[in-house]
Parts: sequence; structure tokens; C-alpha cells
Amino acid sequence: MRFQVGIIGAGPAGLFLAHLLHRSGITAVNIESRSRPDVEGTIRAGVLEHWVVELLKELGLGDRMLREGHFHDGITLQWNRQRHHVDIRGLTDGKRVVVYPQHEVLKDLIAGRLSDGGEIIFGVGGTTIRDIDTDHPAIDFRRAGTGAPDSIECDYVIGADGFHGPGRQAIPATHRKEYQKIYPFGWLGILTSAPRSWDELIYSNQQDGFALLSTRSPDVQRLYIQCDPNDDIANWCDARIWEQFHARLGTDDGWSLKEGPILQKGIIPLRSFVCEPMQHGRLFIAGDAAHIVPPTGAKGLNLAVADVLVLSRALEAKYRHNSQDLLDRYSETCLRRVWKAERFSWYMTTMLHRNEQESDFEQRIHFADLDLVRTSNASARSLAENYVGLPFD
Ligand code: FAD
Ligand code: PHB
Repeated sequence: MRFQVGIIGAGPAGLFLAHLLHRSGITAVNIESRSRPDVEGTIRAGVLEHWVVELLKELGLGDRMLREGHFHDGITLQWNRQRHHVDIRGLTDGKRVVVYPQHEVLKDLIAGRLSDGGEIIFGVGGTTIRDIDTDHPAIDFRRAGTGAPDSIECDYVIGADGFHGPGRQAIPATHRKEYQKIYPFGWLGILTSAPRSWDELIYSNQQDGFALLSTRSPDVQRLYIQCDPNDDIANWCDARIWEQFHARLGTDDGWSLKEGPILQKGIIPLRSFVCEPMQHGRLFIAGDAAHIVPPTGAKGLNLAVADVLVLSRALEAKYRHNSQDLLDRYSETCLRRVWKAERFSWYMTTMLHRNEQESDFEQRIHFADLDLVRTSNASARSLAENYVGLPFD
């Protein structure tokens, strides 16, 4: 097979890129190790920044998001059993975020790609990247079912293959530097079939630490609490989970959290990670392959889309005008935004979680940070601008 661009991964980064390249008349294919039902069924991110919402609309893929997504004018921060509304829309000249689950975005991207005649090869095995130091790189893989070997010959290889994919590893270790922070807590997340308890997202730090109340639909809610990242989900019976949610989201004004049957539960670790640079020869890495943020800032998916927007513009400049400059500066351009998202995600995470490794002094500083958002317009505006999505350089 011969395409101009070979993309490893059919997550947000890989699929947005395929659509952006198609719009520019550049041929591309995605190969994906998971099956289509698996990709379309995995519960992950929820929040889309305002410009991602606009991009989905521009690509002609926004109809279902506009019908089924939930537009949010603000978020609620909570500590000491008090709530504070951050007026994101008022603080950012009218911008809003949308809660529309990642797997629904992926369903729309996959359906759109297939109806455009694009190709996504699901269920592949043995993906390997070769010849990225030449002008004819390639991706080798095995087809699902038969295991038949196959290859994609292309001008550029894109590693949009998440944190564990082969993309980043294909950059020689001597040519990359990795920055990492592992947090001593994880998130226990549940899906519950319950009505909404509050009309915006609540990020709370009280009692034993962090809790987040989010939503999926009028009848299904998504909630998280911080927990030991090495804990076994079997230790968390439903009663214990609800008891913690009540303690961490409770207030003194008579509000109560609405419970329902728990449909799904699981624990994820939290980490910050950046790989520099995000390119080597004819290989470019994007999204979680290059960087991870803890989910407290709701940035991961949005950052993946930002990378491939930069990349698609660079590839367009190359194919249309034979201009190499934007491609050469891909990593540098992306990393400016990446580090700001890393900073914001770290700020939200440290401010909102209870960290036993920190001193009481540091704990107090985090509450001062929260109170600054309540009392200082500059602090609130900074949080709002980052949350809704920073402008592009
Ligand atoms: P991925 O989604 O990981 O996609 C990579 C794809 O590559 C996968 O489908 C994988 O199967 C495939 N692949 C891997 N290896 C191979 C191989 N060898 N060959 C072929 N294919 C391969 N982000 C937000 O913006 N907002 C949020 O609110 C938010 N909340 C989150 C909540 C949770 C609980 C979690 C876990 C994450 C959250 N995120 C959030 C982060 C977000 O889900 C990720 O940042 C996002 O999925 C990154 O997209 P990606 O395309 O880079 O990587
Ligand atoms: C979610 O709804 O899954 C969600 C919302 C906000 C976050 C993280 C996850 O910061």
C-alpha cells in the first residue's frame, strides 16, 4: 500500500489528523491495534475545549455533538464544604466547553472517515516502523484474522499511538529526553445511572481529598475520587464509593448527591509526561504518544487535537508549497502549548488533591490558591482561559 501519510492509531490524534489531511487533499491511512467496537466503547475523556468544538463543526462532524453534548458556561470549585462558581464564559469573552464523551467523538470521526472513502485498518498486530531516516519510510504490520503481513509505504509516518505504542520508541533514545512526574494518587472513576445532581462540573477538595462530579447524559453521570493508585477495585464496594462521594461533595446547604446503580468502575494512575522532541527524520509523534497530563485539567484529548492541527498545517505547507519550515518546527511549536497544558494540569491536580507526601504548609498553600480564584479576578481569568483552551500562537 502506498499513501502520502501513514498514521499509527485511530484515537483522537490519529482520526482528527486523517480528517484534516483529507480536507487538504493529502492521502492517509490509519492502522489500529484494537477492534472498532473496542475503540468505540472505551470510556475516557469528557470535556472538549471551545476550539475543538468549532473544529468538529468545520469538519462537518459536529451534528451529534450539538444535539447530545452539554454546553457548560462555568465550573464549580469546592472546598471547606463551600462552592464557588467560576464563570468561564464571562471570563473568556463568551467561550464555553462541551461535555461530549471521547468515545462518541471517535464514533463520529470513524463514521465520517469511512463515508469519505478513507481507510482505517482495525485489529492489526506487530506494528513496526522503519526507514524514518530515509525519504521512503514504512510501517509493517499483520492483518487481523489471517495475520497476513502487510506494509504501508509513505512519505511520513505519524505515531498517534498513545502512551504505550511504538511511535515514541522509534525515536532513538539518544535523541530524546523524557520528563516525568508520577503522582502518589490515582482516580477511581464510576459511571452511574442516576439523574444529574448539579448543572455544572464540580471539582472538590475536602475530607479525604479530591472528587469530581461530571456527566454523560441526563440519566448517566460520571464521577471520580482520588484513591491509592495501587488499590484493587475489588476493595471498593458500592456503599464505600458512595460514602466517599457524599463526604467529598457534601455541603451544609441541604444539597444532596443523587445515587444510582453503578454501571462501571475502575482505577487509573495519574502522571505527567513529556517527550522532547516530538519528531525524528520522517517520523512525527502526536497526542498521548508524546505527552500525558493528569486528567484534572481535562486537557489530554484537546492537546492531542492541537498537535495534529499543527501537523496538518505543516504537511499542507509541504505538499502545496514545498515549504519545509513548519514541519521542521513541528515539535517546537507543539511543545510551547504542551508545557502550558502540563503546567495547568499540574496546578489543578496539586491544588485539588490531598497528597500525604506534602507538608501541612503545602496543603495550606493549595487552599490559598483556591481562595485566590474566588477573590482575584486575574486568578479566575487565568484558570478560565486555560480551561476553555488557550489561543494558538
Ligand atoms: P489514544 O486515545 O491512546 O489513541 C491511540 C490509539 O493507538 C489507541 O486506539 C491504541 O489502541 C492505538 N495503538 C497503540 N499501539 C498501537 C500499535 N502498535 N499499532 C496500532 N495501533 C496502536 N482528556 C481530555 O482532553 N479531557 C478529559 O476530560 C479527559 N478525561 C480523561 C479521563 C480519564 C479517566 C482518562 C484515562 C483520560 C482522560 N483524558 C482526558 C485523556 C484522553 O483520553 C487522552 O489524552 C486521549 O485519548 C489521547 O488521544 P490519542 O489519540 O493521543 O491517544
Ligand atoms: C469526564 O467527564 O470524564 C471528565 C471531566 C473533567 C475532567 C476529567 C474527566 O477534568
